[in-house]
Amino acid sequence: MTTDVSRPLIIVTGGGTGMGRDIALDQTKLGHDVLIVGRRPDPLEETRSMSAAPHRLHTAVADISTHQGTTALLDAVDGRPVKAFVAAAGGQGDFKDPGTSPEEVDEAWTEALRKNLFSAILPIEAVLPLMVDGQGRIVLIGSTAGLDGAGGPYATAKAALSGYGRDLATRVGRRGITANTLAPGFVAATDFFEAGGYGASATMIEGAASQTLVGRVGQPQDITASVRWLISEDAGWVTAQTITVNGGTVIVR
Ligand SMILES: NC(=O)c1ccc[n+]([C@@H]2O[C@H](COP(=O)([O-])OP(=O)(O)OC[C@H]3O[C@@H](n4cnc5c(N)ncnc54)[C@H](OP(=O)(O)O)[C@@H]3O)[C@@H](O)[C@H]2O)c1
Repeated sequence: MTTDVSRPLIIVTGGGTGMGRDIALDQTKLGHDVLIVGRRPDPLEETRSMSAAPHRLHTAVADISTHQGTTALLDAVDGRPVKAFVAAAGGQGDFKDPGTSPEEVDEAWTEALRKNLFSAILPIEAVLPLMVDGQGRIVLIGSTAGLDGAGGPYATAKAALSGYGRDLATRVGRRGITANTLAPGFVAATDFFEAGGYGASATMIEGAASQTLVGRVGQPQDITASVRWLISEDAGWVTAQTITVNGGTVIVR
């Protein structure tokens, strides 16, 4: 099947796993052309194989925390109009103990900022000229950690992402493009905790569930539903916001 290059794309970074995967599958099911991005080809291909409309799902293998990776993504976009950009790439990594020596601090904080902030800024700035005026939607996946401050370099990077989202919204508003940050709480069934090298134990999941008002942790589908609305036509008057989706998590300090 040939690709109609005039059809607008929805770009989902981190679309090979977790929330990004679920968002991408949802949008292809709705009939949109979706381009998913990640550093590893296998998860991206797995997402494509799970799609009910694999011909609508395109992949780009790229590390978008670098300008080289962003150029590779731009090559994959190939000048097509971009209707929405969902920046789900990111993660906590092993930033629990960022160290104290200038070298350790530099390394840990640079990595967290590249992974969670630059991975959104670099590709979004690159595709802005291709975003469809009057319809364009940008959603940055932040974190409750960016609001409550728990999580060191990761929390700082996610807080900065909200700031970037507001700045972006002011720059693109007159083009009829919106930009918002969605800040999830604890979402299970993702690679987030595995990528951190420690996994999410049953005790950890129970503890996170007990801090919510609805008595359960989130699932990728909870985030997908909010993203579906935020990138829809209906949400055209919602911009420059940080929207928390966390089951009413009570922030324990
Ligand atoms: N799960 C939670 O409880 C939770 C809570 C709040 C916020 N979040 C945020 O939600 C977003 C989605 O995470 P998730 O929970 O769905 O975890 P996940 O399954 O680990 O998804 C993260 C994705 O980002 C991709 N990625 C990471 N760095 C990248 C880079 N430099 N370039 C391209 N792709 C990159 C990873 O693929 P590759 O490794 O193949 O590159 C992976 O597919 C993240 O920003 C995370 O910080 C998660």
